[in-house]
Amino acid sequence: MFYETVDNKHGLRHDPFKALIVPRPVGWITTIGNDSVCNIAPYSFFNAISEKPHYVVIGSAGRKDTLRNLEETGDFTCSLSTYDLREQMNVTSAPFPAGVDEYPMAGLTAIASNMVKAPRVRESPAAFECKFWRSIDLPAAVPGGRPGNAAIIGLVVGIHINDAFIKDGIVDTPGMQPIARMGYMDYNVVTPDTTFSINRPEIGNDGKIVGPKAAE
Ligand SMILES: Cc1cc2nc3c(=O)[nH]c(=O)nc-3n(C[C@H](O)[C@H](O)[C@H](O)COP(=O)(O)O)c2cc1C
Repeated sequence: MFYETVDNKHGLRHDPFKALIVPRPVGWITTIGNDSVCNIAPYSFFNAISEKPHYVVIGSAGRKDTLRNLEETGDFTCSLSTYDLREQMNVTSAPFPAGVDEYPMAGLTAIASNMVKAPRVRESPAAFECKFWRSIDLPAAVPGGRPGNAAIIGLVVGIHINDAFIKDGIVDTPGMQPIARMGYMDYNVVTPDTTFSINRPEIGNDGKIVGPKAAE
């Protein structure tokens, strides 16, 4: 099948777009507003977009508390969502009224960050401390397109990793069991069983593959 997204007539029960960009990491974003109240919510329109400097992007489907807080105070953290924390992560997606501290609502512990005002999730094995750079309003672009969507870009200024997950000088990511969003209500989980390695090819002076490139 093929369909054009201008009229989006896919004929399926749900829009398949998000079922095809998978798995999407779940950025679990904590912000703090001018009122000093903590806000935490999962965002699966989330990814790393650059390293050195380290930038992440978050997609906001309309103007939400996270974006408002970022514009007010400019700080956020992103804690790793893991299989053990899946229920707590889900609770934080509920549309609590602005001004409600969502950490106790989800049974989470806020721990102070080193470099930014927003705290992070103590129970999570890893977290980024980030500074809001800018948000870009995305045009509605197609008939019926939702106005108010935005791409939020932040600079990662500090990274916490639970030392228990550092093995042989590298991060044991599968051991943390991060979860990822699929389409519909589906998730996936990174485990040792589903992790595999492929070395990138190294090209010699003659333009031919000479062997595997060293890990980065
Ligand atoms: C796993 C998961 C991923 C989500 N991803 C997004 C997303 O990428 N963008 C978005 O706007 N909302 C997303 N949501 C919904 C928000 O978490 C929800 O609207 C939340 O209430 C926003 O909180 P805030 O208003 O405190 O920012 C997601 C929800 C879940 C459960």
